[in-house]
Amino acid sequence: MVTSPTIPSHTKARVLIIGATGFIGKFVTEASLLTAHPTYLLLRPPPLVPSKDAIVKTFQEKGAMIIHGVINNKDFVEKILKEHEIDIVISAIGAKSLLDQLILVEAMKSLKTIKRFLASEFGHDVDRADPVEPGLTMYKEKQLVRRVVEQSGVPYTNICCNSIASWPYYDNCHPSQLPPPLDQLQIYGHGNVKAYFVDGIDIGKFTMKVIDDVKTINKNVHFRPSKNCYSINELASLGEMKIGRTIPRVTISEDDLLAAAAENCIPQSIVASFTHDIFIKGCQVNFSIDGVDDVEISTLYPDEEFRSLEDCYEDFAHMIEDNIHKGEHKITGTKSVVEAVPIMASCGNIYE
Ligand SMILES: NC(=O)c1ccc[n+]([C@@H]2O[C@H](COP(=O)([O-])OP(=O)(O)OC[C@H]3O[C@@H](n4cnc5c(N)ncnc54)[C@H](OP(=O)(O)O)[C@@H]3O)[C@@H](O)[C@H]2O)c1
Repeated sequence: MVTSPTIPSHTKARVLIIGATGFIGKFVTEASLLTAHPTYLLLRPPPLVPSKDAIVKTFQEKGAMIIHGVINNKDFVEKILKEHEIDIVISAIGAKSLLDQLILVEAMKSLKTIKRFLASEFGHDVDRADPVEPGLTMYKEKQLVRRVVEQSGVPYTNICCNSIASWPYYDNCHPSQLPPPLDQLQIYGHGNVKAYFVDGIDIGKFTMKVIDDVKTINKNVHFRPSKNCYSINELASLGEMKIGRTIPRVTISEDDLLAAAAENCIPQSIVASFTHDIFIKGCQVNFSIDGVDDVEISTLYPDEEFRSLEDCYEDFAHMIEDNIHKGEHKITGTKSVVEAVPIMASCGNIYE
């Protein structure tokens, strides 16, 4: 049986977030503050770039407490975890620094007071997905972190939230910052392989729901909202419907994706290798969640809604409309499908 130090029901767990200024970390931090958990952010020592500085100030105004330092210093990490009586550690550290988490795990293991650790996962089940290089190297690092955490005895949860709700550009590392293209839509292979798309705000919201839920201790939590399961063909049609225009489609073949991955241009080639795994091999849908280590989030919280992809794409339509007004976006090569359907509204990143 899994044992875990418990958090008294009348108190909110004290959360330390690493990578709060990053793409996923921002959603998690926002959700932690919204759910009134005492929220500590471990930031690398200043100076921060102005855009990140502004994000941190916003978090501070909402109650976040800032700690400066690095996670690959065991003594320092032990000290801050102890000093601030941290219950839960959430890492949303970037791909380049995944192995820095090994020292963090050592520190948590020595301390024995951490009630839950969420490593920087926030994507596929890395023990099941099978990307080509260079994505594979990143997954091997995530797998290594999983194994070290499992051996450490620190209670953990792996968030397998699948794809962020967006147009999945195969050569862009943070796709939800961009609306779908207007010149042409790239369809991967025959375009019928399905994937799950989750709004960033929901990634944060559901992450905060699992952190002190005993049903998620030492589990992989899979995000499979059934209404957000789309193929790339269906996604293209949704985008066209929302902007009221058809957009020319071009096929990006399996070989094209493999060639882009083989270029080994980081980070674009990593994204190409994941795109191949998702939309050619079906890595999000080619297994059932029936292992003892697995749990699907909708079965845990059946009354909690996920934001629909339709809503997200409505936001994208607004983003496109704004960009057209600013002269940053031109409609070329498209045909109106619904006369006088106004271009609608913007999804994705909560800060940009
Ligand atoms: N499901 C999806 O669609 C999806 C999309 C994107 C990412 N992900 C996953 O989410 C996780 C986070 O990725 P991301 O793209 O959000 O990362 P990101 O935007 O690159 O941000 C990385 C964050 O980690 C911090 N960081 C990096 N190295 C650090 C270190 N040694 N010590 C302390 N902080 C450090 C950065 O701080 P600074 O501000 O100091 O640089 C930044 O806040 C990854 O596991 C990634 O695979 C999933």
